[in-house]
Amino acid sequence: MNLFRFLFYVCRKKMRPSTPYIIIYKDQIQKNLDNFCNKLKFETDEIFFPIKVNNNSEIISLLDKAKCRFEAASINEIRLLLNCGIDPSVILYGNPVKSNHDIITAHNLGINFFVADSFKEIEKLSSFAPNSNIIVRIEVSNEGASWKLTEKFGCSDDEAKLIFEEASNKNLNPLGLSFHVGWNNKSIKNWEKVMLHAEDLRIKLNKSGRRIEIIDLGGGFPAHDEDSEIYFEEILQKILPYLHHWRNSGIKVIAEPGSYLVANAGVLYSSVIEKIKRKEKYWVFLDTGVFQGFYWILGGLKYRIKNESTKNPGELTEFVITGPTCDSFDIFEKNAFLPAQTNVGDIISISPAGAYIHSAQNYNGFEYPPEIVR
Ligand SMILES: Cc1ncc(COP(=O)(O)O)c(C=O)c1O
Repeated sequence: MNLFRFLFYVCRKKMRPSTPYIIIYKDQIQKNLDNFCNKLKFETDEIFFPIKVNNNSEIISLLDKAKCRFEAASINEIRLLLNCGIDPSVILYGNPVKSNHDIITAHNLGINFFVADSFKEIEKLSSFAPNSNIIVRIEVSNEGASWKLTEKFGCSDDEAKLIFEEASNKNLNPLGLSFHVGWNNKSIKNWEKVMLHAEDLRIKLNKSGRRIEIIDLGGGFPAHDEDSEIYFEEILQKILPYLHHWRNSGIKVIAEPGSYLVANAGVLYSSVIEKIKRKEKYWVFLDTGVFQGFYWILGGLKYRIKNESTKNPGELTEFVITGPTCDSFDIFEKNAFLPAQTNVGDIISISPAGAYIHSAQNYNGFEYPPEIVR
């Protein structure tokens, strides 16, 4: 190898680490944040970024510099935020069900903003985090979501009213309501239905003497597919009138956009390690798979797959794209159309990979249980 070729080889290696890896484009996150805030008229300090979606410290730092706040699902996530220099006063402990120990720890760490959706949680918060601010999470329709977040969380409207009363009787400060329409919810009808639901409940609570000071829209904004922005624009037309009405009534509207801020900012790059023809189909084996963070595929989520090595794609052929593990569920896509010439060594990109992929390790901050061999 002559010197010129050697230097070229070293530079290429430096520019492109060996696969698999995910690149996060910070400028895309900034663009998403600006777009979200401009279009829905949010100040950045009304955005609570849920770090379960991506807990990379550089992303936390970028959002902190932009004056965003944070939502945490566990003590480990709270500690991670504090280690990144985030002030506890801007952290919402958003998991509706927490152990006594975790409430005590959070309180000792300076957290005083919690979500609850049951009487049990109110009882615990009142004992272990007295005088805290509380958001009551209600159950709302998740129709149209790519991944539903119902049943396990959220109280009924009737319960919400009683939980509010219970919280104020028990030295807590119930401030408002939160909900989640489910990840990547493109159903305009559902967004409208949920906004109306929240407004009806707000009026009911008002009539019974309970003033709502905060409404937390949660996440769920479309962000997974190529047409997401078109749906986002339509959704915002439906929800903006509610936001204006609430803001004009003195209510603080906050939101927890996760995927919207980071999903399209990440791309996974992987290499083809083998190509095999099996029962009339071509199977492409990659050097990373479903069990390296893409668990969501098992629930039906689809990702975009592209061959980055072929400059001129030419004829496309149907491929099964699989991961490297010895597990038959480790399949990214059974009917992916890639250039027929796709072969060993090609770089394959999978996107969007900025949300819930890297953070799927110790998801929500909950560590794998240690294994004790006896
Ligand atoms: C409480 C809470 N807020 C916000 C989010 C982020 O949702 P999304 O990624 O749809 O924006 C989640 C996702 O699970 C969540 O649990």
